[in-house]
Amino acid sequence: MRSPVSSASTVGLLLATIVSSGACARAVTTAPSQAPERPASAATAPARPTSSPVIAALTSARAERVADSLLALMTLDEKLGQLAQMTGRGTQTGPAAPEGGEAQIRAGRVGTFLNIHGAAVTRELQRIAVEESRLHVPLLFALDVIHGFRTIFPVPLAEAASFDPANAERAARVAATEGSAHGLHWTFAPMVDIARDPRWGRIVEGSGEDPYLGSVMAAARVRGFQGDDLAAPNALLATAKHFAVYGAAEGGRDYASADVSERTIWEIYFPPFQAAVRAGVGSLMASFNDIGGTPAHASRWLLDDVLRRRWGFAGIVVSDWAGIEELIPHGVAASKEEAGVLALTAGVDVDMVDGIYADSLPAAQRAGRLPMAAIDSSVRRLLRVKYALGLFDDPYRRSDTTRERTMTLTAEHVAAAREAGRRAIVLLKNDARTLPLRKDLRTIAVIGPLAESAQTVLGNWAAEGKAADAVSVLAGLRAAAGGGTRVLYARGAPVDTADTSGFAEAARLARSADAVVLVLGERENMSAEAASRASIELPGAQLRLAQRVLRAARASAGGATKPVVAVLMNGRPLATPWLADSVPALVESWFLGVQHGNALADVLFGDYNPGGKLPVTVPRATGQVPIHYNHRNTGRPPAAEDHFTSKYIDVPWTPLYPFGHGLSYTTFDYRDLQLSAAELRAGDTLGVSVTVANSGDRAGDEVVQLYLRDDAASVARPVRELKRFERITLRPGESRTVRFAIGAEEMALYDVAMRRVVEPGAFTVFVGTSSADTREARFRVTGDTLVLAPAPPRIR
Ligand code: NOJ
Repeated sequence: MRSPVSSASTVGLLLATIVSSGACARAVTTAPSQAPERPASAATAPARPTSSPVIAALTSARAERVADSLLALMTLDEKLGQLAQMTGRGTQTGPAAPEGGEAQIRAGRVGTFLNIHGAAVTRELQRIAVEESRLHVPLLFALDVIHGFRTIFPVPLAEAASFDPANAERAARVAATEGSAHGLHWTFAPMVDIARDPRWGRIVEGSGEDPYLGSVMAAARVRGFQGDDLAAPNALLATAKHFAVYGAAEGGRDYASADVSERTIWEIYFPPFQAAVRAGVGSLMASFNDIGGTPAHASRWLLDDVLRRRWGFAGIVVSDWAGIEELIPHGVAASKEEAGVLALTAGVDVDMVDGIYADSLPAAQRAGRLPMAAIDSSVRRLLRVKYALGLFDDPYRRSDTTRERTMTLTAEHVAAAREAGRRAIVLLKNDARTLPLRKDLRTIAVIGPLAESAQTVLGNWAAEGKAADAVSVLAGLRAAAGGGTRVLYARGAPVDTADTSGFAEAARLARSADAVVLVLGERENMSAEAASRASIELPGAQLRLAQRVLRAARASAGGATKPVVAVLMNGRPLATPWLADSVPALVESWFLGVQHGNALADVLFGDYNPGGKLPVTVPRATGQVPIHYNHRNTGRPPAAEDHFTSKYIDVPWTPLYPFGHGLSYTTFDYRDLQLSAAELRAGDTLGVSVTVANSGDRAGDEVVQLYLRDDAASVARPVRELKRFERITLRPGESRTVRFAIGAEEMALYDVAMRRVVEPGAFTVFVGTSSADTREARFRVTGDTLVLAPAPPRIR
């Protein structure tokens, strides 16, 4: 919706100012066209992913002219003011500008804010910027809208478990619709860091351990947040974060150094970022960690050589919170000024809350320690983003109180969150068809400290999510149980202390009820930023609670089997071997957002047949970490009969549950795995088909997974790598032939010289229901090695 204010005074003022620079009048007096323009410098630009309309808008000649026109008018302080990002503060009536913020806006000393939202407050601050500052440059408002703004969806790790990019795209679209209706332009999501170490609490924010799944999800979320047109009132500028290798923090300790090979960086950690860039993401955030001694915030290799030159990224890079100043404790800068110069010249455009660019860089520039060209490049990039967001056309487009009122927590959004929740649930074990539970049970005992929490279900990055909007497990089960069923509750134990005083009550309930639902896991803040755990077992006395409850349930059943279901709530895989061995049914429910309880009840009572799969390997013990399915074989792969092989003497080498695992209430049969050719030349496409049949008695979803291995190559390859997947729904008795196409990119590897190549030789294709349950077929690539891309820039 256009604001009358915008078309009258503010934009008029803005245009008049720019027009006064003469040469650029044409750029701003022509209404912005809908059609994307040719990139400004197509002849000289690196190969850009031009397919995205967002990138086309960012790199259009008009965006360039608007940016240049403004830049020509700016003082040094105004330029550095654009690059300054300030944080809002919480007040009783909601977020507001920091003390003195309005004066800073008037003086042109701030270009963007984070943690301020609300149509009215953003409109007023925007008014000050476009009416009362000298150059009338509109502000950007940002927030961590990670998995929903008010309607909270499943945490990203859970969403990845749906193996359904359309589902992730929908969730991001809803989040963008709500966030933008509250005055936001920019979200610090998606988080696309690969995590192979579940001790790292931020594993919850990403898509797990696999670079392909991570890439598919990254692109889907970017599309969902940004849509096709960044200028649309319901679009949010997305941020792929944290660039890069943040998930490889040593020991899983948040913020710790990452020390991994260049090969692993390119093969594992970079692909989701590259996918986000290809999908047109408009911003990236630098990561807190150093990579082999160079902090990401000071890495020209990362931000310039790779991101801008190799990948042709045209958007902005924002620092992480205080990440520029942290170059001092990192030990690579001796002063704030040095830190600022390092970050800006490396390619960090926007300074999140440090105040270093605005305060310390003017002196550096005047003294010749910082080229003006570096400042100009960053300002130009930011102005182009503001242009692409439509702010020079209508700076108030996203500050609309009517949209704010009508687009928040709508019935449609809540229904989408419930569907997303159901799709994310993973059925880990279901012996003797313990699940689904019958709806005519007389009593169900719900036991466990998390079952009644409407806060935990929201996860840790819940933006404006409120417990009052959320459905706890207990509330969901009570709402879904039949009229004649009593759902009783005992907490049993706290989440993470050793108190056992509630055990007796829990055991009593377990004895008396017809079925038991044990709800165990972590509080939402135990899997979050700065929430690394040295042990990924169940915290507190929960394991002992489970043991006591199971004993009581068994004793009371008198030989018959009482259904006992354990439901996990967590943001990381938990090592629970005893539980997995002992309970007949085990369900991974993650943190599913506002509809957690309803989505879970749908699954437990069989109103929805679960089809989620693990996006991460579940270890048996913390000591197995890192454990991931796409490891290399080694010269001594584990073998039970051979002592001198790569394994442990105190725990099996296999995981508790493999990547890609997840059951259904029905069963699926795979047959007729076929390849289109037994031999092909490098560069040709291979067709793979398989027929999947629903051999059970109810409709269900299966995620058909395709893995590939280059059997003998110039460098050792992983034992298998996910290359394709598809989530399908089949009625009982229905079968479908699923077809995949595998091309050069899927067969390629980085050779010893780090060139991207397809090498001749044998490959194995694996297709199946998890990374550990597949059937296979082989083919050969013939002819010469095909070079797809030259070696990337080496780390410097
Ligand atoms: C620090 C976190 O690392 C980052 O992910 C987040 O976007 C910023 N804080 C802003 O809240």
